[in-house]
Amino acid sequence: MSIQITIDGPAGAGKSTIAKKLAQKLKFRYLSSGLFYRGITLEALKYSIKPNDSDKLIFLVKNIDMHLENNRLIINGEDVQNKLNSEDINKNVSSYCLNQKVRNLVTEKIRDIANNSDIVLDGRDIGSKVLPNATLKFYLTASDYTRAKRRYEQLSKDMDIKFSTILEQIRERDEQDMNRKIDPLVVPDSAIVINSSDMSIEEVVDKMVNYLNKLGVVIYEK
Ligand code: DC
Repeated sequence: MSIQITIDGPAGAGKSTIAKKLAQKLKFRYLSSGLFYRGITLEALKYSIKPNDSDKLIFLVKNIDMHLENNRLIINGEDVQNKLNSEDINKNVSSYCLNQKVRNLVTEKIRDIANNSDIVLDGRDIGSKVLPNATLKFYLTASDYTRAKRRYEQLSKDMDIKFSTILEQIRERDEQDMNRKIDPLVVPDSAIVINSSDMSIEEVVDKMVNYLNKLGVVIYEK
């Protein structure tokens, strides 16, 4: 049985940065589950399939070859990794990921990967729905103000953007993720909640490693 560490939490909590670092430290595989939803959104937009056109969407998902190579998403033989964070995808992905059948197909894919390697995964429903029996589950959060500030510091280097706009976007995403009918963002049963508002990335990673050491599943010495 593989060691599975899940990190769920709201947008901007630093899940992917933390999950990547933790995986590096433990020499585990890392998977950002949002990649698959982003890839499906990319393809659906390419073929002008609307999020509510369920039949076409499922047909598309069943008929594309979507897999990871060196943690990069490959669709029908093309490396699409660099196309997954465009404004267009950011705007649309939250609608495409609401289709239950699409979610079931993505869930199968993630389980398949997770059952075959020691892995750290991040997402919105990984500990609650996809891998409820994971070895250790974390819920990483931070205040909306802190999350907006971090994102603002990152984005304002390259674009002219207001802090208030980012704060508003973060609140909107929270509202969508937590109140959607299908697989809403929740604290998974028995998950360890870490509020990173006043913590550095290293402090969060160290805290997670401490929990793993305590469980005896992973012994990591600095
Ligand atoms: O983590 P991310 O920003 O790459 O996620 C992209 C979208 O996919 C986001 O709208 C939430 C959704 N998502 C999801 O519904 N379930 C997951 N396990 C991961 C992401």
